[in-house]
Amino acid sequence: MDNPDKPLIYLIVGARPNFMKAAPLIRALEERAPEIKSLLVHTGQHYDYEMSKAFFEDLDMPDPDIYLGVGSGTHAEQTAKIMISLEKEIFDNRPDLIVVFGDVNSTLAASVVASKLMVPVAHVEAGLRSFDRTMPEEINRIVTDILSDLLFTTERDAIENLRREGIPDEKIHFTGNVMIDTLLTFADKARKSDITERLGLSDRNYAVLTLHRPSNVDVPEVFDGILEALAEVSKNIPVVFPVHPRTKKRLAEFGFLDKFSSAFKTPPAERGILLIDPVKYTEFLALEMKSLFVLTDSGGIQEETTFLGVPCLTLRNNTERPVTLEVGTNILVGTDPHRIIEESAKILRGEGKKGAIPELWDGKASHRIAKIIKTKMEEQK
Ligand code: UD1
Ligand code: UDP
Repeated sequence: MDNPDKPLIYLIVGARPNFMKAAPLIRALEERAPEIKSLLVHTGQHYDYEMSKAFFEDLDMPDPDIYLGVGSGTHAEQTAKIMISLEKEIFDNRPDLIVVFGDVNSTLAASVVASKLMVPVAHVEAGLRSFDRTMPEEINRIVTDILSDLLFTTERDAIENLRREGIPDEKIHFTGNVMIDTLLTFADKARKSDITERLGLSDRNYAVLTLHRPSNVDVPEVFDGILEALAEVSKNIPVVFPVHPRTKKRLAEFGFLDKFSSAFKTPPAERGILLIDPVKYTEFLALEMKSLFVLTDSGGIQEETTFLGVPCLTLRNNTERPVTLEVGTNILVGTDPHRIIEESAKILRGEGKKGAIPELWDGKASHRIAKIIKTKMEEQK
């Protein structure tokens, strides 16, 4: 039987990018701090098989201990539903700490609920700022960080951002990037994946595209311009496009499936934009590793491509991950179709950006975090 005096922590996940961040910490806590009982709470923000369960299987994660099943909604609806369900869980079980990841609505909702019930909050991936409050994630980051007791950062710029916002140094821990822990753990499995063969792609002879930011896919003119550019790029190199559910809805709603029907292809195909469903982590990692370059508006993918040394064109005007620009392979190209075509052409000519691996992106971030959590639990006794 569990010792009732064992410290209890909740790890809160909800959306796709949370799963690869939580997976290594679950393992590190088991190894380094077996005296802590940790429960995995899934809010249900993402719920399709390929946006959720596929990652639990692929990353050998335990099933969630608590599933809140909130689903989709407006920001207020989704955040409120998570808060109501989670408040009850926290009230009943009184965890000693909650750990939240990244910048999604589940992260914000959990931090607010826990703080008001005086449960300390640990934030993995703290301090990132795009300085763009039209981005819903920026609000989530600011609120989560101000409420957190332990702030784990992935890069030095994040430390400066937190200091500027008045967060005391003793709360900030530069621990590195847990996404890279997962990448290193699963790199071999990814290398063995046959996804490129199945899609008819050959190594370094295709590009990968992902899009899901509301500023890109919810605005018809912007989305149209990006697709115009990609239709042009894909005359020279196939572009594989795993389509996020938000983006899938907009493609249909804006009539783009018809408008770009000559560019959109079903794999295998030698040219064109190859539309596929979202793929599991090790398959996506395989696609990134073997590609010539990546075009994306994702946060995590900017980091993975930097680590892999694959050129990344970020289809945004800003990034909360400046180390990928300063040290890595990332370039901000915005959404101007001419610029997207021009930067892609440079890579096709062999002039892709080269980079190095940022500090502490070494596969050990989750162990550093587990150690600090262990100390915190001992102090709280
Ligand atoms: C969310 C996060 C974003 C993160 C992204 C990762 C917020 C505010 N946004 O954006 O930061 O980068 O996840 O992928 O938290 N849908 C489905 N099936 C699902 C999930 C969503 O069909 O399993 C559809 C629904 O129509 C939903 C829409 O996608 O309304 C958007 O989902 P939501 O979680 O609100 O935001 P994302 O765009 O996924
Ligand atoms: N990813 C995946 N399958 C896909 C697309 C992305 O496994 O079809 C992974 C990707 O490797 C990265 C994470 O999802 O680890 C990034 O999540 P997403 O782009 O949804 O969110 P963001 O990082 O922008 O918050």
